[in-house]
Amino acid sequence: MVALTINGYSYLVDAPPDTPLLWIIREELRLSGTKFGCGIGLCGSCTVHVNGEAVRSCMVQAGDVEGTSITTIEGLHYADNHPVQQAWIEMQVPQCGYCQSGQIMQAAALLSANPSPSRDEIVEAMDGNLCRCATYSSIVGAVARAAEIAGSEA
Ligand code: FES
Ligand code: FES
Repeated sequence: MVALTINGYSYLVDAPPDTPLLWIIREELRLSGTKFGCGIGLCGSCTVHVNGEAVRSCMVQAGDVEGTSITTIEGLHYADNHPVQQAWIEMQVPQCGYCQSGQIMQAAALLSANPSPSRDEIVEAMDGNLCRCATYSSIVGAVARAAEIAGSEA
């Protein structure tokens, strides 16, 4: 059994502690916003927050994150209206959408640590999140826009 806190809820999951966190999120808890892409830490589609930091949930063993606060895209904002989500909608970033939950979670972690990132800092922070639809330039613009929105809400 593993005891996890996800999006503010406590779960006791009947799974071995070495189960990847991504599997528990998707298969046990049915939080399907977090996506499986590569399964080996190379694409970023499975990105969630652990204690506010962006992590690849396919590479994290569930037993290692007991006692932490885990956030998935479903829990990023109580009304799905986080500044990053607002900017993503405003700038119509997604194409197929598959990678976008991971992109949004990565961007939200960046802005939490650095509310006013430079373009280079955005590119560097988003570098490990792949997008087969090549929405990269939209993503960079939307992260900058999200920083503006967050600043105006502060
Ligand atoms: S599925 Fe986790 S990094 Fe690709
Ligand atoms: S929007 Fe299609 S993979 Fe990124």
